[in-house]
Amino acid sequence: MKKTTDFQKMKLAREKIAMVTAYDFPQGKLAEKADVDLLLVGDSLGMVVLGYDSTVPVTLEDMIHHTKAVKRGARDTFIVADLPFMTYHISKDKAMKSAAMLMQEGGAHAVKIEGGGEVIEIIRALTTAGVPVMGHLGLTPQTAGVLGGYKVQGKTAAAASLLVEEAKRCEEAGAFALVLECIPQQLGQIVTESISIPTIGIGAGNGTDGQVLVLHDLVNFGVDRVAKFVKQYCDTNQLFETGLREYIKDVKQGTFPTEHHSFTMNENELELLYG
Ligand code: KIV
Ligand code: NA
Repeated sequence: MKKTTDFQKMKLAREKIAMVTAYDFPQGKLAEKADVDLLLVGDSLGMVVLGYDSTVPVTLEDMIHHTKAVKRGARDTFIVADLPFMTYHISKDKAMKSAAMLMQEGGAHAVKIEGGGEVIEIIRALTTAGVPVMGHLGLTPQTAGVLGGYKVQGKTAAAASLLVEEAKRCEEAGAFALVLECIPQQLGQIVTESISIPTIGIGAGNGTDGQVLVLHDLVNFGVDRVAKFVKQYCDTNQLFETGLREYIKDVKQGTFPTEHHSFTMNENELELLYG
């Protein structure tokens, strides 16, 4: 299993870091089997698995429940879990307790928290207490309400330079890596060159140290619309639909189950049964 220092080494060696989300046992198992570098139990859980409109309704209990399932499937993979909305802002105490639960009950190796500004001191408190923290700047979905929706961030010189400063402060506060979401590719590269911790981009261009995608977007599973930055590598929706429709047709036509899927009683027992 890779650890935080390995990701730093990968940055130095210019070896790209491949991260993907997972939310349950089979997804953890499949991602580990495919040799992903690290997993994220993202609070995107709220949207792609639980059917909410945003990540805001996701609770710490939801995150613990799903992190445990992922962990059972991916015993040998570094797992980062998102601290959900309002579980780390209220106080350092609250952040500490929430992170402890995600790690001790959920089995996460690290937590991810969104934002710069005030959040930087929370990163410092957590890392000082021994919690590996991944930062997250740019489009921060938990605060999309304040950002005015899901929009590209850091497009102006002023916003970009603030983001570079916040990235540096995340590093200085002890974050071991930083997610950059939905920012111009030039800014992704500038941030990556400005800090010594690895950057993991999503909609941040090809100049970051690694990439992360939401698994359901990547395999087209249960999603009907994806952002511009998503590449879909296979079509699970199509596979599911074909499989399910054939099953239903077989059942209706009586062509499933066949002899092959059935159990047989021997002749003697049958005779005894009929008397
Ligand atoms: O919740 C999530 O899936 C994330 C990634 C998009 C970085 O935070
Ligand atoms: Na998230």
